[in-house]
Amino acid sequence: MGQGNGAADTVFRNARLVDGLGGPSRLGDLAVEDDRITAIGEAARGGLPKIRGGREIDLDGKVLCPGFIDVHTHDDRALLADPLMTCKVSQGVTSVVTGNCGVSLAPLDISVRPPAPMDLICEDPKGFFADFGDYLDALDRDPPATNGLAQVGHGSLRVGAMDRLDRAASGAEIKVMRGRLEAALEAGAIGLSTGLFYPPARAAPTEEVIELAKALAGYHGLHSTHMRDESDRIQDSLEETFRIGREAQVPVVISHHKCAGMDNYGRSGETLALIEAARRRQPLGLDVYPYVASSTTLDSVRGMQASRVIVSWSKPHPEATGRDLDEVAAEMGLSASDAVEALLPAGGIFFSMDEKDVRAILSYPHAMIGSDGLPHDVHPHPRLWGTFPRVLGHYGRETGLFSLEEAVRKMTSLSAARFGMKDRGVLREGAYADLVVFDPDTVLDAATFDNPKQPATGILTVVVNGRAVWQDGQHTGARPGRALRRQDLDAPRFEGAG
Ligand code: ZN
Ligand code: CU
Repeated sequence: MGQGNGAADTVFRNARLVDGLGGPSRLGDLAVEDDRITAIGEAARGGLPKIRGGREIDLDGKVLCPGFIDVHTHDDRALLADPLMTCKVSQGVTSVVTGNCGVSLAPLDISVRPPAPMDLICEDPKGFFADFGDYLDALDRDPPATNGLAQVGHGSLRVGAMDRLDRAASGAEIKVMRGRLEAALEAGAIGLSTGLFYPPARAAPTEEVIELAKALAGYHGLHSTHMRDESDRIQDSLEETFRIGREAQVPVVISHHKCAGMDNYGRSGETLALIEAARRRQPLGLDVYPYVASSTTLDSVRGMQASRVIVSWSKPHPEATGRDLDEVAAEMGLSASDAVEALLPAGGIFFSMDEKDVRAILSYPHAMIGSDGLPHDVHPHPRLWGTFPRVLGHYGRETGLFSLEEAVRKMTSLSAARFGMKDRGVLREGAYADLVVFDPDTVLDAATFDNPKQPATGILTVVVNGRAVWQDGQHTGARPGRALRRQDLDAPRFEGAG
């Protein structure tokens, strides 16, 4: 906290400053010059009386906090195809981590439609990038509104290196994949994700992943995983995940942690205890989204034990989009599983979690927030537009699951530390001006399962690298986002480990 003199581009006055670190908020002023926060003055010490802003904005007690970091996205192509990123910016998101669940737009050189789930981010083989550096350069040339951090997907590596995916990779294929992974890390990839649950990677043994993950250690890289099983065999999958981290000596993030399927309701106590014990031995993190339904390709419904399924898109039957699978199947005169076959390629939304588990995981202090939104779905899961305001408004204010300051911490400084983001995720002099202004009394998700493409309420202003991207309920059209390369980052920080 300093006083500061002179001029600034913008001064926010009378803000409720929530610094992202979890401590109590304070009233005060904050100045932005170029892309940085240049001064912060608490009201108790007189604010920033000596600084004049080119723009002076009186926030009248509204919250000013660091921009939200969406640590789990499938925005690889959205950053290029829909660079305004309105679904994220309207929630206060200023940075997104791409390439999750083993699915990345690069490096992959293919000439046919990619297999599911690669098709969730791109159906057109020409949309993929053989060279990871070319992908990042494309973001530099035509920047999006948010910052982007990109991972390499293990599934994408497999699709690019193997003639068939129903087996373990050979030594030679692992060498090819590892070479491509290392080239991507050189170019600026931040880590490797796996989706061992999905058919393209299901046959990969643990050892294959360990061999690839070993490449990360020399680059401060991070490994994230959509585990092999989030259902009946979740304990085995957690052990596999811990082992990969230990043997490759890399930090691991468990993606969208959940206990899926009615038989597994209530098991979050058990899984969080295993995670907590492992976290004390090795660098380990996790993310979660604030809903009881998941969403992915429709064929994943097999063995899902979902109580309700909504079709989120279908190539051969677009008219089924947004409708319940049971209804669609009845109209087709088919069983649910035959209807799924008829609808493929397709996506689905699966009600397969217990509210109590979702709350337990959300409130676990080491859980970050990631939307897992699917930006190209026709009728997307509402998490794409609603995740961050829902954590603040529904789970924070309405449910009282955590304080406002704690909710913000889980979406800012915690995530920035885990991903090694330098000078982001915190309100501090010298940090980047990635900022959100919101009304703590009204902030709330508006997107629903029936009407999923709705901007949230109460998000007033969003600033990325010092420039406003969202104002007065509208996108400003600005695209000040940056591709953040591994070289721009610190080593991931996992306090309490090892
Ligand atoms: Zn996933
Ligand atoms: Cu995902």
